Amino acid sequence: MSLSNRPVWLIPALTALVAGVAAVVLIILPQLRDSGPVTSGGSSVRTSGEAQIGGAFTLTNHLGETVTDESFRGRPMLIYFGFTYCPDVCPASLQILGAALDQLPEDDAAKFQPLLITVDPERDTPQALADYVSADVFADNLMGLTGTPEQIREAAEAYRVYYARVDANSEFTEYTMDHLSVVFLMDANGEFADIFPHGTAPAAIAARLQRFLEENPVQS
Ligand code: NI
Repeated sequence: MSLSNRPVWLIPALTALVAGVAAVVLIILPQLRDSGPVTSGGSSVRTSGEAQIGGAFTLTNHLGETVTDESFRGRPMLIYFGFTYCPDVCPASLQILGAALDQLPEDDAAKFQPLLITVDPERDTPQALADYVSADVFADNLMGLTGTPEQIREAAEAYRVYYARVDANSEFTEYTMDHLSVVFLMDANGEFADIFPHGTAPAAIAARLQRFLEENPVQS
């Protein structure tokens, strides 16, 4: 590249840089402000700079019943977003969650409500979820939740879970779903308590859940 070429790319490069900085200021800063300290009656309600995770949802469970986030008040929830056609990631994650709960004393394990919220409501009907959650390797009380595409979108947005439909070049399936694979631990009031990244070992999850119960006693 000759020196005389420099201004040609330098100007667009600088323009892009300025636009980038402007975008950061316009997009990131208001978000930080939104999740900043909120005061109510003089006491600080939320002081962390982290984005709030969780919120209201209205969905249909694998028995065909309408449930909301409030249906589970009094019980800590273990929430996983996935789908039944998932060939490996979802079943592995749900199996690990089942194994973690198996490591707790039975009455402690029963205090948690594991939930699979589908990101593929088109195929994951209540009946499809019922068949899926009954697998022996999953937690006994695993509940599948589905809904309209809009209800699923709202739930995923509340938990900041990314998902997207991806066309599959396969004779077995028309499409698959790309999605975040994490387990959320929500306390008995539906508030965010912890997050288990994909690949967390069952023993590590079990130890955290045990500690959670010691710090947050739950009625059986
Ligand atoms: Ni999956």
